[in-house]
Amino acid sequence: MQSAVIQFDRFNTLADTDAQSRIAAARAKLGKRVVLLCHHYQRADVYRHADLTGDSLKLSRLAAQSDAEYIVFCGVHFMAEVADILSKPEQIAILPDLAAGCSMADMASLAKVERCWRELEAVVGDPDKLITPVTYINSAADLKAFCGEHGGIVCTSSNAPKILEWSFAQREKVLFFPDQHLGRWSGHKMDIPLDEMAVWDPDLENGGLSAEHIRRARILLWKGHCSVHQMFQAEHIHRFRLKYPDGLVISHPESNFDVCRLSDHVGSTEFIIKTVKAAPANTHWLVGTELNLVSRLAEEVKPEGKVVQFMAPMVCMCSTMGRIDPQHLAWCLENLAEGNIVNRISVPPHEAELAKVALNRMLDAS
Ligand code: 13P
Ligand code: SF4
Repeated sequence: MQSAVIQFDRFNTLADTDAQSRIAAARAKLGKRVVLLCHHYQRADVYRHADLTGDSLKLSRLAAQSDAEYIVFCGVHFMAEVADILSKPEQIAILPDLAAGCSMADMASLAKVERCWRELEAVVGDPDKLITPVTYINSAADLKAFCGEHGGIVCTSSNAPKILEWSFAQREKVLFFPDQHLGRWSGHKMDIPLDEMAVWDPDLENGGLSAEHIRRARILLWKGHCSVHQMFQAEHIHRFRLKYPDGLVISHPESNFDVCRLSDHVGSTEFIIKTVKAAPANTHWLVGTELNLVSRLAEEVKPEGKVVQFMAPMVCMCSTMGRIDPQHLAWCLENLAEGNIVNRISVPPHEAELAKVALNRMLDAS
C-alpha cells in the first residue's frame, strides 16, 4: 500500500545511529524485494549494509543477474544507469542521492563527442568506417548509446586492454573517452607507442591537433581524468621504494602513466583487493586508489601482518560517492518500505537500447 512520499528534510538531521537502525528496520520489512549493491569506494557506514560489492564490471554483471524488485545502488550515477539498462524492465534502479555523480564522467558530453566525430570526419573521412568509439563505463548513458550506434563498445578498468583489442579488430583507430589515463595505459599494454596516441582536447577546434597528428594517431585520448587518482604522483612511489625496498606498489589505471609504469601491479578496484589479499603474510603495500577502499583493505589484512599504505600524503576520497550517506539510504529504503519510489534512475528506452548494445559487446568480449 502506498502512502505519501516521506520528504528528505525529515532525515537531514537524523543522528547516524538512528539512521543505522532505521536502515536495518526498513530492510527487514522489504526482505528480498531489495538488493543493495555497493562500490568498493563507498564509505564504511553505508558499505556495511551491502548485499553485494564489486568493481564496475562485477557490479554491472550482478545487476543483470539480480531478481530483486529494487536495486539500490550505493555508487555513482553512471553505475545506477548501467543497473537500470542491464536489469529486467520491471526492476527499479535507485540512487539514494541524485547528486552522487562522477566528475570524470561529466568531462565528456554527447554534444562534445558528436562535434568531435564531425571534426574527425572532415579530416579522415567517414569515422564509422575508420574509428571505433570506446567509452569507459564512467560515462553517461547517452555516450554508451553513441558507441552502440557507431559500432563501438564500453570498457571498464578491468577489461580495457581486451576491449581495445576488440576495437582494433573492427577498425584501425580508436576514440577513447573520457579518461585519457586509462586509455593511454591500455594502449601501452597493447604495445602502441606513446607517439601514436594523441590527446583530444574537446574545448579546442579539432581537439587542438593538426590534421597530420590526427591521421597518424591510432588512439585519440579524450582529455579527461579522475580528480581523485590525479593526486597520485611518481614521487610518492620513489619515496616509498627508498624507505621500503622490498615493498610492493599497486595502482588503479586511472592514475597517470608514470604512476602506472612505476607500479608492480595495475588494475581495477576488485583486482587491487584480490591481489593484496592473496599476497604473502607480512608484505608491505603502497596502494594508489580511493581512501575508503584502502583504509578498509588495510584493516582486513592487518591480522596477517600485512601493511597497506595510502599512496598520497593528502586525503583523496571520491566526494561525490560519499554523498550517499546513512541518512539518504534510510530515507530511500523507508520510502520503498512504504510503497514510495524515490530517486529512481530510468534511462529513456531508445537510449537504453543502444547503450545495451555497447554494454553487451563488452560483456561478450570480456
Ligand atoms: P573500478 O571499475 O575499478 O571499480 O573503478 C571505478 C571507478 O570509478 C574508479 O575510480
Ligand atoms: Fe569518478 Fe573518480 Fe569517483 Fe571514480 S573516483 S567515481 S572516476 S570521480
